[in-house]
Amino acid sequence: MSKTSWKAGTMLYPLPPVLVSCGTTEKPNVFTVAWTGIINSQPAMTYISVRPSRYSYELIKQSGEFVINLTTAKMLKAVDFCGVKSGKNTDKFALSGLTPATCKKVKAPMVAESPLSLECRVTEIKPLGSHDMFLAEIVAVNVEDEFLTADGQFQLEKSNLIAFCHGAYYVLGGKIGTFGFSVAKKKTRKQRIAAIKQERRALKEQKQKKTASLKQKKTPPAKTKKNLSSAKSKRTAVQKSRKPRKPLNIKKAP
Ligand SMILES: Cc1cc2nc3c(=O)[nH]c(=O)nc-3n(C[C@H](O)[C@H](O)[C@H](O)COP(=O)(O)O)c2cc1C
Repeated sequence: MSKTSWKAGTMLYPLPPVLVSCGTTEKPNVFTVAWTGIINSQPAMTYISVRPSRYSYELIKQSGEFVINLTTAKMLKAVDFCGVKSGKNTDKFALSGLTPATCKKVKAPMVAESPLSLECRVTEIKPLGSHDMFLAEIVAVNVEDEFLTADGQFQLEKSNLIAFCHGAYYVLGGKIGTFGFSVAKKKTRKQRIAAIKQERRALKEQKQKKTASLKQKKTPPAKTKKNLSSAKSKRTAVQKSRKPRKPLNIKKAP
């Protein structure tokens, strides 16, 4: 194995392209942020790095609040749109088809279409150079009911989360392991791997069924022998009813 060495750069991938909502429910704004992450568990803390030139920068600085909304394949177009247009002169919620929804603890709205929204309160702003880092405490977590099982399990893997990697968006693939599986006892490990494989099979079947039903809706009725012969007889009837064409008077080239 050999590697080519490049000058310093921000090449840490994959990143979550989250939608950060800010402002108020009456005058909301939303923009895309990839420079985010978790920095502490107790209290639960996160950060976003924002260029001071962003319209959202002042909104967050003044209110001290924002919401991090995870994003899915369905939301992709809106994710890109909110990352290239400014809320300074555009109502990005209205134009992207996203819906602002009221939060529990902060005045900033969350994005209703997101499977998971974290309500955040800023604790510190750290100027770093090109970006300022907003350190914040996560004060409430909102999860989409569609992905909650009857016994309260949150099946986030069913939401089709997306990742941002070297200038492109990707949808996350299937589950390939669970936390600590590498050191679990042989029997437990086997059981866990079997459960994951079963889950993947079920998801695949579900997707295939969905695609098949979509295809069925789109395709016209199949051309059976009966259909074909009736179509042929219809054509013949139409042809018979037409006047016989005159032979074309093709002039020969001089
Ligand atoms: C995938 C993606 C990731 C981005 N990540 C960041 C980021 O981490 N920090 C930032 O300041 N801008 C980031 N941007 C750019 C802003 O989202 C963009 O400038 C946006 O128009 C700012 O909106 P606003 O002016 O309404 O605040 C990103 C854009 C995209 C498309």
